[in-house]
Amino acid sequence: MSNVTQPVLVFGATGQQGGSITQALLNTGWRVRAFVRDLQSEKAVALQSAGVELVMGDLNDPLSIRKAMESAYGVFSVQPSSGQGAMYGVSDEDEVRYGIQIADIALESGVQHLVYSSTDAIGDEPTGMGHFDSKARIEEHVRTLPINTTIIRPAAFMEMLLMPGFGLDEGRFNFFMKPEQSMQLLALEDLGLIVAAVFADPERFSGSTLSVASDEVTGRDIETVFSEIAGRQITYSRFHNDTLSNNAFLAKLTHLLDTGILAGTANLDDLRAINPELRSLKNWLAGSGHNAFLEALGTAGEWRYGHS
Ligand SMILES: NC(=O)c1ccc[n+]([C@@H]2O[C@H](COP(=O)([O-])OP(=O)(O)OC[C@H]3O[C@@H](n4cnc5c(N)ncnc54)[C@H](OP(=O)(O)O)[C@@H]3O)[C@@H](O)[C@H]2O)c1
Repeated sequence: MSNVTQPVLVFGATGQQGGSITQALLNTGWRVRAFVRDLQSEKAVALQSAGVELVMGDLNDPLSIRKAMESAYGVFSVQPSSGQGAMYGVSDEDEVRYGIQIADIALESGVQHLVYSSTDAIGDEPTGMGHFDSKARIEEHVRTLPINTTIIRPAAFMEMLLMPGFGLDEGRFNFFMKPEQSMQLLALEDLGLIVAAVFADPERFSGSTLSVASDEVTGRDIETVFSEIAGRQITYSRFHNDTLSNNAFLAKLTHLLDTGILAGTANLDDLRAINPELRSLKNWLAGSGHNAFLEALGTAGEWRYGHS
């Protein structure tokens, strides 16, 4: 349990990553302050009911960021990205600006530990994928700060597998890997547990870059686990060539899987030592992901993310 009385300011607390981090911090005794755009939104109200202090702000308003950081002990920094398509209308330059601004204001505000959430799809060279390379630029800036900083590199979220457009409603599942290729996946709850452990031990994690995943699976593994949990056959194959020729975003990601960039580099044994509950895809689908999986089995739709 944390003995720190000052709060951790969480960006994106109404979203996937920030939501998971908020829950894990609350569970381990931290005070949490959430940076939200709308104090009245359903998710903001739910956070408040769970004991979270709300501060209203917008990433386009640096003054609101400054105000939110007053007396904060720590900051969890995550930004929306162009990879989320039209959802937030954010460009790669916007994302870089937001991430650098949060880091600079954290330094000026006397924040003691900044945890920046990047992506594990980063190599030594630019990937050519805007919303990965933007994060490499933010990472570079975060590393220059003379305060405790930790960079978290999450793998692809298991939750993403259940988005419409991958064929689950038609008894198939199409994704980036060839059937025998493997890829690391992350359950968002595990991300929260790992980040809470990072805040709890700044001496151990300050200055480090930690790749985070929960499991590593091949396309065949996904077929087996999906079929078992669905109670009927779900056939796995890589995206069809026609799909890839018509969708440059998916084609680039598939190429990055082949080059290893998207495959994931997390050390699962090390992560298990931090979070012994690390979820396998099967455990996640049988547990907290179960309802979403059942819903995905009955939901038709087009893949809507990304831009070409
Ligand atoms: N999908 C993956 O597998 C994966 C893996 C690794 C990294 N990532 C990265 O994860 C990031 C997205 O995180 P996420 O999935 O947690 O996002 P998310 O669930 O879409 O949530 C986005 C959050 O950002 C907030 N927000 C959006 N625009 C804002 C603004 N102008 N000012 C203040 N807050 C704003 C939203 O608040 P509202 O409630 O007000 O909308 C929401 O809380 C992206 O950078 C993505 O590239 C994704």
